Amino acid sequence: MPAFTARAPGKIILFGEHAVVYGQPAIAVPVTQVQATARVTANIGGKSGTIDIQAPNIDMNANLNDLRVDHALAAAVHGVTASLGLTRVPACTIEINSTIPVASGLGSGAAVSVAIIRALAGLLGQPLSDEKVSALAYEVEKIHHGTPSGIDNTVVTYAKPVYFVKKSPSPAGTPQARLRREARGEGIIETFNIAKPFTVVIGDTGLPSPTKESVGDVRKGWQANPEKYETLFAAAGSITKAARQAIEGGFPERLGPLMNENHELLQEMDVSSPELDLLVKAASDAGALGAKLSGGGRGGNMIALTSENNADEITAALIQSGAVRTITTRIE
Ligand code: PMV
Repeated sequence: MPAFTARAPGKIILFGEHAVVYGQPAIAVPVTQVQATARVTANIGGKSGTIDIQAPNIDMNANLNDLRVDHALAAAVHGVTASLGLTRVPACTIEINSTIPVASGLGSGAAVSVAIIRALAGLLGQPLSDEKVSALAYEVEKIHHGTPSGIDNTVVTYAKPVYFVKKSPSPAGTPQARLRREARGEGIIETFNIAKPFTVVIGDTGLPSPTKESVGDVRKGWQANPEKYETLFAAAGSITKAARQAIEGGFPERLGPLMNENHELLQEMDVSSPELDLLVKAASDAGALGAKLSGGGRGGNMIALTSENNADEITAALIQSGAVRTITTRIE
């Protein structure tokens, strides 16, 4: 039976989360130890348009037509069919499996979307460009996140380190602020090389990371106090630029202090939490060169930069301080 399988990795944001929603640069890298897989199998003889979705991880076994149109999985499928100009899809089963923890800032939603989009387009014999895949996944991200910057779908699609500046201005804000952001120009998506590999330990608080809420709260804070927030965003942007130089220049150890500074800015944006702060401190006390929350914040994951050989010590300290899961990932 014809079948097509596609995979997409998880991701972490190294620098610039939240500020990226307001036009500042951010850096994200794939995490290949975890991934989402979609396998689409044609059901020969099945009624055209009948699409079964099986997602054992979330106990789902449904017919696409029974899902709401704005259900993320349905939206990914509809995005592909609309983009290919199809009104009917041959009967098929889409099986989704993912080892990426959900709602923890590791890009699980984006990875599932990218895998579905690629697998379905592949089965239909019309593979899509990375740019198109990312654009379709971005539409689905809007359901998850409200006003996503687009960094998640980008890094997960390209599966490479990405330096990212959002294309369109944030929808909220004063007309003057919008004009200022527009004047900063078009977005930037650049994949770039890691001159010298480095290792990061990811620690999961085990608490959900409600990206939509934290992004919404930052927006409220920004609307109430634009100057304070614009200053924080600009500072995060400068850190991200310095981080890219350090990564491309082969000085990854310089990322440590930059991570600490970025975490302080995120605390001031009020998106950290006692649990995240505890893990960040535990990692630093265990010898991490730097540590910060990663992603939407409040819950979800933090990341710590290791020195040569201390990933195990940092991992032990994180578990000791309440991390429910750790992943050690080599960025190269
Ligand atoms: O999906 P998360 O939790 O990694 O967060 C995405 C990063 C934010 O900057 C907070 C939001 C966005 O859309 O860029």
